[in-house]
Amino acid sequence: MKKLLFASLIVASITQAYELNTQMQEYMNTLKSEAKKQNPNFKEFSYERGEKIFTSEHIGKKGKLISCVTCHTNDLSAKGINKHTAKVIDPLSPSANSERFSDVKNVKKWLRRNFKDVYKRAGSAQEKGDVVTYIIHKK
Ligand code: HEC
Repeated sequence: MKKLLFASLIVASITQAYELNTQMQEYMNTLKSEAKKQNPNFKEFSYERGEKIFTSEHIGKKGKLISCVTCHTNDLSAKGINKHTAKVIDPLSPSANSERFSDVKNVKKWLRRNFKDVYKRAGSAQEKGDVVTYIIHKK
C-alpha cells in the first residue's frame, strides 16, 4: 500500500511539472465555467482541439494565410519571429520560458491580439482554454 502511494506521488509530480500559478488556475477555471455556459455539452479543455487551433491556417487580419505557428513556430521551445514586425519572440512553452503563463493580464492581452491576427475575431472561452492547454502540454 505504501509503495502504491509512493508510486502515485511520483506520477502526480511528473504530470504536474508545469503546474500553473494560482491566478492562472483561476483564469482557466473562469474560462471553463464560461465555456460550460456557452455549451452545455462542454466537459474539459482538449489538447487535440487546441492543436488544431494553433496549427491551422486562416486568412488573417492582413488578408493573408496565417496561423499561430507562423510567428511562434511548431517548436514551442524555440524562438519565433513576429511575421508582422520581424522581431524575435521568446519561446512560448513554459518549460522553456518560465515567464510564460505567469501573468494573466499579459496572457489575456496576447490571446485577444493573436486571435484577431489569425481568426479576425476574439477567441471563445473554450478556444482559449483549449489552446492554452495545448501550449502548456506540448512536448
Ligand atoms: C503575428 C505574429 C503572431 C501570431 C500569428 C501569434 N502570436 Fe502569439 N505572440 C506574438 C507576440 C509578438 C507576443 C508577445 C511577445 C512575447 O510574449 O514574447 C505573443 C504572445 C503570446 C502569448 C503570451 C504568453 C505569455 O504568457 O507570455 C500567447 C499565449 C500567445 N502569443 C498565443 C498565441 C496563439 C494561441 C496564437 C494563434 C491564435 C498566436 N499566439 C499567434 C506574436 C504572434
